[in-house]
Parts: sequence; structure tokens; C-alpha cells
Amino acid sequence: MARHLITSALPYINGIKHLGNMVGSMLPADVYSRYLRQRGHDVLYICATDEHGTPAELAAKEQGLPVAEFCARAHDAQKAVYDGFALAFDYFGRSSSPENVEITQHFARKLNENGFIEERAIRQVYSPADGRFLPDRYVEGTCPHCGYDKARGDQCENCTRVLDPTDLINPRSAISGSTELEVRETKHLFLLQSKLQHEVEAWVARHEDDWPQLASSIARKWLTEGLHDRAITRDLDWGVPVPADTWPELAAEGKVFYVWFDAPIEYIGATKEWADQDPENRDWKAWWYEADDTVRYTEFMAKDNVPFHTVMFPATELGVREPWKKVDYVKAFNWLTYYGGKFSTSQKRGVFTDQALDILPADYWRYFLIANAPESDDSSFTWEHFTATVNKDLADTLGNFVNRVLSFSKKRFGEEVPAGGEPGEAEARLGEEIARLLAEYEEQMEALQFRKAAAALRALWSAGNSYLEEKAPWLEIKTDKEGAALTLRTAMNLIHLYAVVSEPLIPATSAAMRGAFALPDDTASWVSAEEAKALAAVPAGTPFTVPPVLFAKLTDEDLAAYKERFGGEEG
Ligand code: 2FM
Ligand code: ZN
Repeated sequence: MARHLITSALPYINGIKHLGNMVGSMLPADVYSRYLRQRGHDVLYICATDEHGTPAELAAKEQGLPVAEFCARAHDAQKAVYDGFALAFDYFGRSSSPENVEITQHFARKLNENGFIEERAIRQVYSPADGRFLPDRYVEGTCPHCGYDKARGDQCENCTRVLDPTDLINPRSAISGSTELEVRETKHLFLLQSKLQHEVEAWVARHEDDWPQLASSIARKWLTEGLHDRAITRDLDWGVPVPADTWPELAAEGKVFYVWFDAPIEYIGATKEWADQDPENRDWKAWWYEADDTVRYTEFMAKDNVPFHTVMFPATELGVREPWKKVDYVKAFNWLTYYGGKFSTSQKRGVFTDQALDILPADYWRYFLIANAPESDDSSFTWEHFTATVNKDLADTLGNFVNRVLSFSKKRFGEEVPAGGEPGEAEARLGEEIARLLAEYEEQMEALQFRKAAAALRALWSAGNSYLEEKAPWLEIKTDKEGAALTLRTAMNLIHLYAVVSEPLIPATSAAMRGAFALPDDTASWVSAEEAKALAAVPAGTPFTVPPVLFAKLTDEDLAAYKERFGGEEG
């Protein structure tokens, strides 16, 4: 069995994420990890909060908290939501961990030894009142293009033009408001990515045919434009410090690495955190360092992250000249829109993950989001589509099937799976159909085609409904009690099969379905096509209970209330 290393883009620390963020990284990574674990693979799914950088400093300042304290709280708040979504990380770390500091500094030293880092002097805005250099976005002033008076030194929010801090009219410090700003010369470390261009190109060329088109086309575009040398240090209080043993002068000035330098390294850092927390996991390096061919590394991310993962981070890993594992497969997603417009954290438009869980349990969201994952194109979230999907697929096709079968059988045959009847032509046809759909589901999961996998799962659920309609045990029972018992027993076997194979998408509901049967040794983590065909894993005589309604039907009033609360149109 292969070993699967899986990571999803690290959610930035400064606030609870929206559903668009969830569907483009963590959720599909979780679904894939769960599926592979069920198939018996050795899986390590790692994620973490991405904690450094200016936005974290600004958010902490807004809340009047020291940045370390702000990040600790924000990490816990995000982790609680992800637990609520049943994301089964093997470890959810923090990029500000000592482990990441150690590995990031190690990477920088190695890049330096190998001639890929250079100190360069640049001119930057300095604020004597604050006693520090100001990152571009800490300088505010009037936009020279549109006259907006709160434009930031990197960009004007009003007219979206990209700016240089020195373009601003009446510039001031965003920290103190001081207008006595100077431009001073200061030194920074530059990563000489231009020297790695050919190596990165050769590496991408070896992989791009395997990657989805969205990932390879973005990587190509960046390579065609050429890799430029980039400043990888910043003047901030919060970040991985430049190591004093290698750059004493810069370290003394308090320089830290740029957030995009240390964030991807945290995939490795978090794996070491995982090991440091539990002596059982000491072999963490086997996943990352000189990893053999049995380790397959899959990364999940939205399309804006693709350049960093297909070009920049691989360049860093190549330049280190040590055998760190590089990504094998990049699963990239387009955007989930909210009524065709942008989900926006800053403008609070759309549905945030904590709000989603306030409204309905995780499985409703997990299923809807995976079934509508923005894979080949952007996809749009609307409350109309969400409520219709929940009602049709989850409440009617799956939930109602389960409840109807179990309640009817209980009423007519008591609290054990009924005996009697011999499987006939209808059961044979059903078995064939189920085996075919299960194979389709497996194939789409293995190809990381999430929408198609969800469609195959839905078809498996539908096949049960068709069988039940065809056999109509509520009529059958009037003339052929044995036949009705067979039909119900077969349907109960379908329920058990659904419990096992639906788990990657709807883990809590799967547990409830599986828990309905008091089956001894019910430990199978997957069902083979042969077993699926036989539909006999749950024998007659097995005690069962009827679980509470699995999915509530959403009403027109619910729909109206959601639209009222979140806004049902493009803003
Ligand atoms: O785009 C983002 O939200 C970043 N925080 C993703 C980082 S992914 C990785 F490189 F750490
Ligand atoms: Zn402007």
C-alpha cells in the first residue's frame, strides 16, 4: 500500500474562513484522506494556521492584543470550527511554532551556502516616531489616481491601482499616524530564484502532464514570465527571525522572513510538531526526507496559491540541495462564488464556516460543497441551490430511504433484520448495478474528481430508491410476506453499504447509519465489489434500531430566513 502525504493550503490566521476557502482546500483534502485511510493506505494529513506577516500584526493591533496572544486565540478559534466540520487532520499546527522556526532557518542557511541568497540594499520608508521601517501597507495616504484618502502603500482599495508607498500624497504611518516619514536605505535578503529557473522548469516538465490542467497552466505561465529574485525578509516584529549566526547584522536589526517564505515550510514544520507531541510519531522525517517512492505527496489549494506551490516552494526546496519531498500532485480549485460574486472576508459577504455550523450540522455542508466543488470552473453558492440539494439528495434520496426501510421493517417484522425469501432476478440486477456504481465512485475518488465522486455516491443512493419502488414491500407484504422480508433485508444491506462508503463525505451520518445495526465485529473499512454485489453483510436476525431523521427537510421559511440573514444577491 502506498503512503500518502496530504496537505491543504494553510488558512491565514486573521479570521474565521468562509465556505469558499473550505471547499478549495481543507474539505476535499479531508475527504480524500478519509477515503484513502478507508482503503487501507497509510495517510498523513497535515495542515496548520499561517500566522506570520503584516495582516496578523494589523488584526492583533485592532483587537488590542499582543500578536502572539492574538494568534494563539485565533488558532484555537479556527481549530474549533474545523473540528466542527469533522476535518480529520493527523495534525493541525502553527507556522509560528519553534519547529517551523528551526526548519525555516535551516532552509535559509542552506540556500545561502549554495549561493541562492544575496544581501541587497533597498530604499524603504522609515518612521522615526515608530522607530521602525514600515512595510508598504503600513504607509497610508491619498491615492494619486483617485484621491481616496485612505489608500495603502501597496494598493488603493478604492480604485484597485497598485501603488508604491512613495506615490502617496501626504503619506503617514498606519501605526502612529506620524507624517514625519523618511526614505532610508536598508538591507534585505533576496532569494535568487532566477538562478533556479532552469531547474524548476525541468522539474515542472517532469510533472505537469500528471497535474490537472488548472495547476499546470498556471505553473507554465509563471515560468514563461520568468522567475525573479525576491526579497524574503521584512521589517516586522512577528515572524521567523533571520538567524544571527549567518546574518548577524540583519538579525540585530530585527529582520524576519517574509510570510510566504516560511508558510510552505510549515508543511514540514507541522509534521515535526506532530512528532514532537507524540513519541509514536518519531519517524516524521521518513515522510519528508529521502522519502522513498512509496510516499505520494498531494497538495490541495485554490488557484491563487498555485504559483507558490508549483514554482516558488519547489524552487526553495531545490535550492536547499537536500532530498526534501516535493509535491507529486497539485489539486487546484477555482472559486466558489456567492451568487456569482466574490465571497469576501473583508466585506463580510457570503457564509462563514462558523455561521454555517450554527445553522446546520457539518454533513449538510460537506456533501453540498463536495458535490459542487469548483473543479473545472468557478461554481456559485446560492441558498436556493443549497436548500434544493439538501432536500433532494440528502433528505429524500438518502435520509428518507433509511428511515422508511427501518421503520417499516420494525413495524411489520420487529427489531431484527427479517429472515425469509431467496434473492432473485431483481436482487441480482441491483447487485450488478451497485457494484458498477461503487467502481465508478472509487475511480472518481482515486482521480480526485470530487464532483463526479459525489455524483456516483448519489447514484448509489438512488439505486436503493429504485429497487424499493420496484419491489414496493408495503404492497408485497399483503401477498408475499417472505418476499417483503427479502426486500427489506436487501434494503438494509444497502443502508449498511451506504454507511461504509459515504463516510468520506458525511462521516457523522455514516456513523449513525452504521450504528443502527448491532452487528458483531462490524469493522470492515471498505466493501469490495463482490461483497457489494452479494448484499449480505447484514444477516437476518441482526438487531437494529431506527435512527432519528438523518437530514431535516429545509422549508421555504428556512430559505427566506437564510437569504434575509446573509443577503441573497450579488453585492
Ligand atoms: O493564501 C493563503 O491563505 C495562504 N495562507 C496559504 C498558504 S499555503 C502554504 F504555503 F503555507
Ligand atoms: Zn485610488
